[in-house]
This record gives sequence, C-alpha cells and structure tokens, in this order.
Amino acid sequence: MGNAPPSSQPETKAPPEALATRRARAMGPNVPTFYRTPLHIVEGRGVWLADAEGRRYLDAYNNVPHVGHGHPKVVAAVAGQMARLNVHSRYLHEAVPAYIERLGATFGHGLGPALLTCTGSEANDVALRIAEAWTGRTGLVATDATYHGNTRALSQLSTRRPPIGGYPGHVRLIPPPEGDGTAFAAALARAIGELEDAGHGFAALILCPIFANEGLIEPRPGLLDAAANAVRAAGGLLIADEIQPGFGRIGSHWWGHQALGLAPDVVTLGKAMGNGYPVAGLVTRPELLAAFREAFGYFNTFAATPVAAAAASAMLDVMEEESLRENAATTGAHLKAGLTALSHPAIAGVRGAGLSLAVTLHGPEAPARAEAAVEGMRARGILIGRIGPAMDVLKIRPPLPFSRAHADRLTETLEQVLAHLPA
Ligand SMILES: Cc1ncc(COP(=O)(O)O)c(C=O)c1O
Repeated sequence: MGNAPPSSQPETKAPPEALATRRARAMGPNVPTFYRTPLHIVEGRGVWLADAEGRRYLDAYNNVPHVGHGHPKVVAAVAGQMARLNVHSRYLHEAVPAYIERLGATFGHGLGPALLTCTGSEANDVALRIAEAWTGRTGLVATDATYHGNTRALSQLSTRRPPIGGYPGHVRLIPPPEGDGTAFAAALARAIGELEDAGHGFAALILCPIFANEGLIEPRPGLLDAAANAVRAAGGLLIADEIQPGFGRIGSHWWGHQALGLAPDVVTLGKAMGNGYPVAGLVTRPELLAAFREAFGYFNTFAATPVAAAAASAMLDVMEEESLRENAATTGAHLKAGLTALSHPAIAGVRGAGLSLAVTLHGPEAPARAEAAVEGMRARGILIGRIGPAMDVLKIRPPLPFSRAHADRLTETLEQVLAHLPA
C-alpha cells in the first residue's frame, strides 16, 4: 500500500474562503495557512491527499506522515493500544523501553537512552536544559535563520520574530556553514569567546545537520568537524536537531549527523517519529540524562505512554517492511537527477539528500518566482513548499513511499510550471 489515491468523501462543500473566515473568528487572526487560497484537505492515503471538492493532490511536502498518510499498520497499532491501555509513564510498561532499545540501535558513539516528549519543541527545550545541567553554564549558539521550536527558550533563537526586549545575553546566532565550514567554525569560536567574556560561559551549539529551515545543504563528511572541535575545546555540548532529517529521510543514513560524520551529544527527534501521533524525544548518553534528571526531574503527562510507543514502533516496522530508507535513497537520487537536468534560467541549483531536496532560484525575482512556482504546482495537483531566509528556495520532502513515477510526475510538472513563470 502507500500509493493508492484516496476515495474522496467530501466533508463539506463550504468554499475555502468561508471556512477560512470562520477559522479566523474561532482561532484568532494570523494562524498561518499555505497558499493564496488555503487548501481544505479532508482525506489522506499514502502520498495522496484529497480536498473537499474531491480533487487529488500528490503530496511532496509533508514530512510527518513519514510512511504515508493513514498507514493502516500505524492506525491499527495506535487504535489497538488505545483500546487496551493508555497510562502515563509513572507505571511500568514494556513497550516503552522496548521501543527505546530499538531506536537506540540506530545510533552509534555511545548514544542510546532516550527521553520521550510530545513535541519537537519540548525535546529541544530539554536538550538545552541537559546542556545547562551538564556544563553549569547557559551560553547558547544557534544558526541565524533557524527554527527549533515554540517554547520561550527556543523562540529566543528566532530572527524572523526577534524576542520582545531583544536577544538575551546568553544567545549568539551565527550564519550557517558555506563552502568547507571554516568560516562557520571561526564564527562559532568568536561567539563562544563572547559568551565566556560576558560571564555566561558556553553550554551548547544547537543545529539541524542538514540546515533544513535555512534552505538545506549538501551533507558531506567533515563539513562540521572544525565546529565540533571548537565545541569540545570549550567544554560544551553539541545538540543535533534531527526533527527534519531523521528516521532515514536522507536515504544514505538513519540520521543527518551520520552523513556528516558528526558525533553529537544529544539528538532530538520528532515529526516523523509517530507518523502523525504526537511523539517526539531525544537520544543521548546515560550520564547526560542522569545530570538532567538530577537538576530538573521530568514528567510529561502525555509522553512515554504505551500508545506513543505503539505508534513509534509501528512506524519503524513499516520503515523496515517497506524498505523506506532505501527507497528514500534511490527515489531521492532519481528525483534529484531529474530536477538537476531541468534547464530553466530561473534555477540556480538543486541540493539536498534522499527525499529532502531543495531547488534554489536566481536573482532578485527569486522569492516571487518561488511563490508562483508553489502556487503553479498546487494548481496542477502537486504540493511542495518554499523556505530559506528570503523564501526563495523550493522545498520538496514527500512521505517516503514516493515512487519513481511520482518523482517523474513532479519533475515534469515543475518544468511546465517554470515555463509559464513571468520572465
Ligand atoms: C528543525 C525543527 N526543530 C524543531 C521543530 C519543532 O517541532 P514541534 O513543532 O513538534 O514542536 C521544528 C518544527 O517545525 C523543526 O522544523
């Protein structure tokens, strides 16, 4: 399964504009939606979505339904466990440690024990507190166009919406790496020095190993070696936010940091982990987890439950049964080759790995062209997104059961859309 289009059962025929107005009344203004006219999706199956009009869309954007929308195995696992038992983590349940042992086996360099949360934001927030507990310091370095979540501590890293009252003294933001990573390591060393001089000390560097929210990089071994050395020399921790690259999306490896040859101290996970069931968390070393629990304790009502473990285990089962990491590698390579072969003057390049790809566009018109391309693809029944500090990069990251035929359809449609863009 995975690729059959859904049979659409319209939920309501209300025009999207009327639903958008009703939603704004109910939920307040400025709740973001995609597209000039928001989509009203009522059904999803595999890599397909259907709207209230019964129109089908090939989903090349959503990374939460990692093994496909509505995968029957994940649905059955969640429903079955929910019907049998769901209690919080103050009771013993075998499914939770069993899942963590299985998850831990995908990591190396001494990582293994995990702390489960409900969201990626919670996982990153705990990761920062692990660094504080371990180092006794608070200084934090992140990249300057990133997103790591919605808690107060993480929203202080946003450049799109700077914190009220200005950036706190313990935060430094530096540009993501370009070229061979030397400039990145130098900027990091300067930031660490400033934090030490200001008395905050240095606790951690947090980054996404593929810089997904910055517009993606070409992951290659050694890129962040000098930066990792600077982190170690200063006695801080390296936190890899794998919420986008993780669980085999990049194809060649289970985790983005493995493609870089990097050995982070804490790895945070989310999005794909439960295929849509809200389970997230982090994997680290036993002594770091012990230091955190000593300093902060931790309880999270909805995390580390048997239902969360059932969802996350079923997701891994499907990954294995359907060889989806391998598919991300082969279909991703095919898609990347197809996109790279497109010759249009607006295209500056294609980068990324597996089924996490970016098409970068040229020049001052790039943000408007990227917007027009996303809208044009939607009009032709394919969903992609855009990203980057200037929102000028097309972002493609479909559910992993994406096939070569889907990839070809995407490439051909993008070619048509680009051909119709205003010069
Ligand atoms: C890289 C990264 N980290 C963290 C988060 C936050 O995850 P969540 O929305 O589950 O809190 C996101 C969400 O978009 C993300 O892209």
